[in-house]
Amino acid sequence: MKTIAIKPISWDDDHICIIDQTRLPAELAHEHCLTVPQVWRAIKKLKVRGAPLIGIAAAMGFVLGLKRSRVETWPGMLREAERLHRYLASARPTAVNLFWALNRMFNVVRNHVGVEKEELLGYLKREADAIVREDIQMCLRMSRNASRFIKDGDGLLTVCNAGGLATSGYGTALGVFYRAHEEGKSIKVYACETRPLLQGARLTTWELLRNGIDVTLICDNMAADLMRAGRIQAVFVGADRIAANGDFANKIGTYSLAVLARYHKIPFYCVAPFSTLDLKLKSGREIPIEQRDPSEVTSLYFKRPMAPSGVRVFNPAFDVTPSVFLSAIITEKGVIRKPFVRHLKDMYGRLPQKY
Ligand code: MRU
Repeated sequence: MKTIAIKPISWDDDHICIIDQTRLPAELAHEHCLTVPQVWRAIKKLKVRGAPLIGIAAAMGFVLGLKRSRVETWPGMLREAERLHRYLASARPTAVNLFWALNRMFNVVRNHVGVEKEELLGYLKREADAIVREDIQMCLRMSRNASRFIKDGDGLLTVCNAGGLATSGYGTALGVFYRAHEEGKSIKVYACETRPLLQGARLTTWELLRNGIDVTLICDNMAADLMRAGRIQAVFVGADRIAANGDFANKIGTYSLAVLARYHKIPFYCVAPFSTLDLKLKSGREIPIEQRDPSEVTSLYFKRPMAPSGVRVFNPAFDVTPSVFLSAIITEKGVIRKPFVRHLKDMYGRLPQKY
């Protein structure tokens, strides 16, 4: 069966149209972003989310911002581009894809100083479109590189949503499941609900069901029991930022799954494009972790209180998994094994400048 394409973001005439992911699975609602602050809020509030997708949203927001701006002349346009870069980059701190995409957009401006505004907008639109096109190609390549690690009949565990909704439409970790399914392998996916915002329960199960994948939802605290029962043969997760030694940040709860997988001798794979690498950081200790609003923990998905008002809350959006727990990092360029420092550096060194 062919995977159903999801389009979480697209141009609609001169503005941006997104699937509002906070409303899934109750409704598949679209929202139109006409201004840059709307794009910023959509990223901040997780209407668009997932590392690759927030990079794409920011790149498109950058085009929108320069187009809407009244500045027509240089160096005003350069100042405006700097402001847009800073502003959009402030939406979320952990996923490096956001900064990677904005840097690409800013470089286009820098490389065309002096051209007419209309011409510059054309270049910027082309760059944003290229980021989207490349993203889908990267997802397809990652899925091809990773599906060999899945055997017919496997039970597979994932957390959060690293699927079509988190990318331009196919996914990283979930892309691997789509690929295995397309190859005719029978798989059984277990999706952790992913407290507090339930990306696993709301989004992962939604898109896997649409694609005819056998999926079972579990509460986050059920993973150990499933592993001990021998029902999980591999764990596949995405990433928001990977440091030079292979430590990586992903949705809070990933680390505990990695520790459990090691204890139960289950392979644990991180599936992510090269745009998620941040080799400037020596280890995961340097990755900035986003702290989010306590109300995300104390209220039932923004609806009803679930904890006494005023209780102290710890709500990091991500955690860092030390690379010692990783079986491999699977990228669009190939599978990277230990020692990660050497292998990541070698592979990175062979890439074109824009990385
Ligand atoms: O807070 P979110 O929903 O943006 O977190 C997303 C994740 O942690 C994903 O696993 C990660 O971005 C990889 S998406 C391909």
